[in-house]
Amino acid sequence: MWLGKKIFFLFILGFLLLGGIPHCQAWFRRYRFVVREAWYTRLCETKKILTVNGQFPGPTIYAHKGETLIVDVYNRGKDNITLHWHGVKLERYPWSDGPEYITQCPIKPGGKFSQKVIFSSEEGTLFWHAHSEWSRATVHGAIIVYPKYNFGYPFPRPFAEFPIILGEWWKKDVGEVLKVALKTGGDPNISDAFTINGQPGDLYNCSKPGTFKMSVVHGQTYLLRIVNAALSDILFLAVANHQLTVVGVDASYMKPLTANYVTISPGQTLDALLFANQPPGRYYIAARAYTSGVNISFDNTTTTGIVQYYGQYYPPSSPPSFPPLPNYNDTFAIINFSSSLRSLACKKHPISVPLNVTTKLISTVSVNTFPCPNSTCEGPNGTRLAASMNNISFVNPSIDILQAYYKGINGVFGNQFPSVPPLIFNYTADYQPLILQTPKRGLEVKVLEYDSDVELVLQGTSLVAGIEHPMHLHGYSFYVVGGGFGNFDEYKDPLSYNLVDPPLRNTIVVPKKGWIAVRFKANNPGVWFMHCHFERHLSWGMEMVFIVKNGQQSYQTMLPPPPDMPPC
Ligand code: C2O
Ligand code: CU
Repeated sequence: MWLGKKIFFLFILGFLLLGGIPHCQAWFRRYRFVVREAWYTRLCETKKILTVNGQFPGPTIYAHKGETLIVDVYNRGKDNITLHWHGVKLERYPWSDGPEYITQCPIKPGGKFSQKVIFSSEEGTLFWHAHSEWSRATVHGAIIVYPKYNFGYPFPRPFAEFPIILGEWWKKDVGEVLKVALKTGGDPNISDAFTINGQPGDLYNCSKPGTFKMSVVHGQTYLLRIVNAALSDILFLAVANHQLTVVGVDASYMKPLTANYVTISPGQTLDALLFANQPPGRYYIAARAYTSGVNISFDNTTTTGIVQYYGQYYPPSSPPSFPPLPNYNDTFAIINFSSSLRSLACKKHPISVPLNVTTKLISTVSVNTFPCPNSTCEGPNGTRLAASMNNISFVNPSIDILQAYYKGINGVFGNQFPSVPPLIFNYTADYQPLILQTPKRGLEVKVLEYDSDVELVLQGTSLVAGIEHPMHLHGYSFYVVGGGFGNFDEYKDPLSYNLVDPPLRNTIVVPKKGWIAVRFKANNPGVWFMHCHFERHLSWGMEMVFIVKNGQQSYQTMLPPPPDMPPC
């Protein structure tokens, strides 16, 4: 009896000390992200780079489908920073989304921001990255979303999994590279290496010892979670003597697609199975750039990692075999791969493509130029390089659009983003009149009604020669229902749309001199950025903003902001 009382009091005491249950507060798993500089040696040179927790690539975030996490972000660097959870929809909660001056003001040096990361339908691989200036070059990491507890994958359970984070390395400071480019108006310096999990690999100077290696057991299946975190290049990736079976892209399941190589643009992620069914030995994983740009220099180096089988094999010192990769300008290889992707679209993983479009939008995506005093800039013919959507080269505001919208502050942005290109011309002609090259400057958003069924056609143009654009939308995934070369034909082209099992993505490559059609239901209220995921094009103004209005019901409206939004 006496003992019972003692235990009872201890229980009450513990209950009071721990704060009891009365707050009824949800408990979220937390990550601590300290943004700070760290020394790294690559390509025989040592330099300081910006990192999270001193790691490059940064720490991996793990979640289960539908979970909510909190990431406490501390800025211990010298410059402003924001972090973005690429591909996470953050339903009704744009406050955590991250793009600088779009949904928040940056976290200043010494500052802190606790970002709630709300997962919903995503399942597979995504990534997080910095979203201010070019800091995402080194400030990024994988996000792995497992199925709900007690649910499995829609494919054979892998024996183990490996993130494969593709990056880009500059010997120079990336901030400087951007600064110089914006000052001269020319193309920024190309990178000096590509990296797999932070390592350039055997083919670069001083890089052999660090090469990323994944050890496999013969007969087992491995899941590769591939992320393209590079700033400026679409990449081909292949593994010598092995095929890859793609089972998901952008955290959405696909029908299994077996291929000798995969293609992946900046902003895209890809889940692929590797069957370790080859004679035990060592095999290169290799990745290199694709580009169709004429007269545009690009990093044409090759990054490698090694798949090594456990066990003994001879001769142990022979170099690993090398996979064939498509040519750097093999456009067919790119189109063939990406147009072969199909959503799983089965009972357990259904899709819901909007069939009755209520809002039709067409936007050009162009590289442009601005005239430069005395033609002294380093763009074509002495101009300054620029970029636009629907001929508007985006100008950043000085307070974030989300805050201005939420508080009803006037004069920060306009709501006149055109629904169709303001100038009609042959967008994909081989030669373009020079006069078309100069865009307007502006900050116009497109307001969407809650629950509207949106079709957006992105039309590439051949202005300033033209190139492809990996276009990314925040807050949503979209169904890629169609695409082709030439000018989009609003009567003919929709007839060949895939409305049955189109891939669901958050980033899609608009082909050079071609177009892409995507559809989504505007059911996530908030302020959502859309932009090219080539960092230089983003810096030049190839972006726009959607404001999706609140719905009628309380569960269809934006949640209130957190108390610690970074001040402007
Ligand atoms: Cu991965 Cu707005 O970006
Ligand atoms: Cu672009």
